[in-house]
Order: sequence, then C-alpha cells, then structure tokens
Amino acid sequence: MLFMKEKTVFESILERQEDRIRRMKLDREADDFSTLRPLTIGVIGGDGIGPAITAHARRILERLLADEIAAGNVILKEISGLTIENRAAVGKAVPDDVLAEIKKCNVLLKGPTTTPRKGDIWGNIESANVALRKELDLFANVRPVSIPELNIDWTFFRENTECLYANGSSGIMVGQDLAVDFRIITRPGTERIARQAFEFAKANGKTQVTIVTKANVVKATDGLFLDVCKEVAKDYPGIEVDDWYIDIMTAKLLDDKRRTHFQVLILPNLYGDILTDEAAEFQGGVGTAGSANLGKHYAMFEAIHGSAPRMVQEGRADYADPSSVIRAAAMLLSHCGYHGKAQLLNSALDRAATDPYAPKLTGREDGATGAALADWIIAEMEA
Ligand code: IPM
Ligand code: MG
Repeated sequence: MLFMKEKTVFESILERQEDRIRRMKLDREADDFSTLRPLTIGVIGGDGIGPAITAHARRILERLLADEIAAGNVILKEISGLTIENRAAVGKAVPDDVLAEIKKCNVLLKGPTTTPRKGDIWGNIESANVALRKELDLFANVRPVSIPELNIDWTFFRENTECLYANGSSGIMVGQDLAVDFRIITRPGTERIARQAFEFAKANGKTQVTIVTKANVVKATDGLFLDVCKEVAKDYPGIEVDDWYIDIMTAKLLDDKRRTHFQVLILPNLYGDILTDEAAEFQGGVGTAGSANLGKHYAMFEAIHGSAPRMVQEGRADYADPSSVIRAAAMLLSHCGYHGKAQLLNSALDRAATDPYAPKLTGREDGATGAALADWIIAEMEA
C-alpha cells in the first residue's frame, strides 16, 4: 500500500487532537491565582545567560514578596536542570524529572532556553518553550506593548498550543522531494483564547478587538479561527470587532495613523509569534518585553529573547540585560493578585530605561552589570 507510513503519522495526529479536544471540553474551571495560597513560584534559570539574568529577577521577587514568603503564603522554588546539555542527553525537550518538579509549582518564572535548530549538534529536540506550553496547556500567550508617547497600547493574545507549533517537530519527509507539516486549529482551542482576549478587553475598558488571520487563503484552519472568534465576539456587544489579514497587519503596525486604532489583537500561534516580535521592536526590542503564558492551572512568565550562549562563552553573562525577565516577574506578580507590587516594579523598570543616572547596560564590560541594574531597581522601589 502506498504512503502507509505517512497515513499512520496523520492518523496518530488526528487521534491525539481528538483526545485533546475532549480534554479541553471537560476542563472549564480555571484556578484563580490571586487566591491560590500557598502559591509556589518555580524559578527556572534555563541556559546560556538565563541563570544569570533570572537570579536578578528572583532577588527582586524575594524583596517584594518578603512578607508573603515569611507568612508561608508564597514559596519560591529553584528548578535547575532545564539546560540544553541535559535535554540533549536524554533526547527530550524537558527531562522527566525536571517536568515533575515544574508540575509541583503553580506559576513559573523562566529564563531563556536554547532552541536547537534542525541539524544542530543537539539533535532534533523540540523547543523547551513550546513543549512546556503544550505540556502545561498554557494556551494564551499574552504580550503587551505600550509606548505612551506614540499612543501605542497593544495587547496581543497569541494562541500558544496549536497552529504549526502543535506538530512542529513531527512533520514528515515523503521521499526526497516532499516535506509536509500539519497545521492544527480547533474550535475549543480557538474559543478559549478568544474568550480570554474579550474578557481582558472587557475588564480593562478596551473598546476594540482585532482578529488576525490569513483566512482568504488558508481557508480551513484560519477560516475556523476567524469564525469562532466572531462567534465569541457576539457575547461582548460593547466591543468593536474587526479582522485583518496578517500581511497587511504587519504593514499597518508601521502606519502611524492606523496603528493607534489597535488595542487587543487575537492571533493563531505562528502569526502571533511574528507580529509580537515586530511590535516589541517599537518598544526597544525583544530584550525589553515580557511574555505571559497562561493556562487554566499553570502560568509561565518568561523573557522573550534567546539564551545568547555566545555571551557566556565570551565571559559576558554578568553584563547581560535582565530587563525582559524582570518585566516577566512583574507580569507574574500581577497575575497572582499582587497588583500594587507589580506596578511598583513596572514603574521602577520604566524609570531605569529613562533615568540618566540609572545603570546603562551594553552587554559588555564598558556597560553596567545586570546585578547593578537589579540593585538600582530595588533601591528605587524601596525609596
Ligand atoms: C517566542 C519564541 C519561541 C516561539 C521560540 C524560542 C521557540 O520565539 O516565545 O516567541 O517561537 O514561540
Ligand atoms: Mg518569537
């Protein structure tokens, strides 16, 4: 029989998704992280510059949460072992023992982890980010970009578990000449990200939600995504809804008359990945942005940049900028109900970027260290 092996792969993808859809339909109730106590915060250093920059963010969290930690309401837990060396040694995106430790936490602060490329010395292991998002079902990747002086205030809701990422490491080569990947969009998967975005809009006084797809060309998957978002929109009559195609959307973020119109944006995974990098660039690059990966039972907050192994090889890890993972720590605080502490941290971080006396990092010895920046932020918050 022709294509037997390929049919088996396709069949197993469909079976996995059917099972996943069943689980999503059953899992309706979300934990409330602002009342869940004791709250266990896992701190994952990752690799490359990850452990160095994450340690600074941890120190800040320890200061801000000192009373809560002393009262036993918050537990900070170090999770080591999510390094590329360990992952490659066991041939898994996340080693089993590390995953078991992670699952004992409620929320996670995560430094960057190296994502191997096809053909790397590390073998074909899946990105740890992608694996954790799927494993912990962190379906909403929330990425805010705010630049008050340009009147930009965007919040991206990127679906985080489906699209081309769902089977990104299990595409197939058919003979020498044909490569096939499998793109997945599901109704319950789309419904929950859309609902999260509209609920956010409603709770934060946003008046505009924009759905981004390429449904004019990619009719089945993007078509379903768009339809489901529009169905969910009907439950939010006070909010204006429009939809844009991803190509023109990337252009319109550059259009200073148009771009201020956008407030909350909902996107499938890959378009969301791309557009949020473009958006972060306005704000000073991916090094300045934090990212929240939210699920019903876990949430993970991370720096959105890479692990910069070269900085470590050249002995420059101490000079790496911890701003992005500190921003992620502020998002974590806010998600867990510590809004005042989050605001305190966010405004100290904002001042660090503008105050001429704040330590300036260059990534090299001619600039300040990450520790100096963390010290400055702590002093600002406690002033
Ligand atoms: C991100 C990153 C990841 C992604 C990589 C590291 C796998 O680019 O968080 O946006 O593609 O999602
Ligand atoms: Mg990305």
